[in-house]
Amino acid sequence: MNIKIAPSILASDFSRVGKAVEELERCGADYVHCDVMDGNFVPPITFGAQMVKAIRPHTKLPLDCHLMVLHPETHIEDFARAGADIVTVHAEACDLGALFKTIASFGMKKSAVVNPETPVEALFPAVDGGADMLLLMSVHPGWGGQKFIGGTLKKIETLRNYCIRQGKPDLDIEVDGGITEENVKDVISAGANVIVAGSTVFRAADMAATIRRLRA
Ligand code: DX5
Ligand code: ZN
Repeated sequence: MNIKIAPSILASDFSRVGKAVEELERCGADYVHCDVMDGNFVPPITFGAQMVKAIRPHTKLPLDCHLMVLHPETHIEDFARAGADIVTVHAEACDLGALFKTIASFGMKKSAVVNPETPVEALFPAVDGGADMLLLMSVHPGWGGQKFIGGTLKKIETLRNYCIRQGKPDLDIEVDGGITEENVKDVISAGANVIVAGSTVFRAADMAATIRRLRA
């Protein structure tokens, strides 16, 4: 599987996100992870489709939008118009089947995510329902800079084994939260191949070297 690094702009300087995104592309990132928070599904508010629209001209990288919002179905068109490439919706917040159809109708890739306390089985219907990617939260959503929840490794393994059993061995599995150079190897050997990293990348002295090491 090819390993993809998706730095989260949540950890970037919000007064210059466009520049941060240009830097991510220069430093070899594969995706730009956009952490959308509505202050309801999670306590903080970060940004919405307008931020995605603002950064779109600054990079060719796929914009990987993680919607930590209630009623995600009401936002899909805005993200499509803003130039989002991947939209990830929480299984806890919607009817995945219906929402996948809407996301695909706008030509975007469809992805589903569960929180640490939600059983991984909640993503099995998404695997069989045509997901282009699956996301497992390894921190409680809302904030960057938290500690990786170790129990996520078992969930990754279970999910990868299910994808293999369902004849989709190469389905992208993304993991999000608390990933460092120390624990990334465990995350990848458990079966994940798309790595979200906010603090690890944006706190790095050498962003490009850190991205290379995370991928290695
Ligand atoms: C938390 C976000 C994560 C977080 C990752 O709700 O979904 O993407 O920003 O940031 P780090 O890598 O700093 O834990
Ligand atoms: Zn995220």
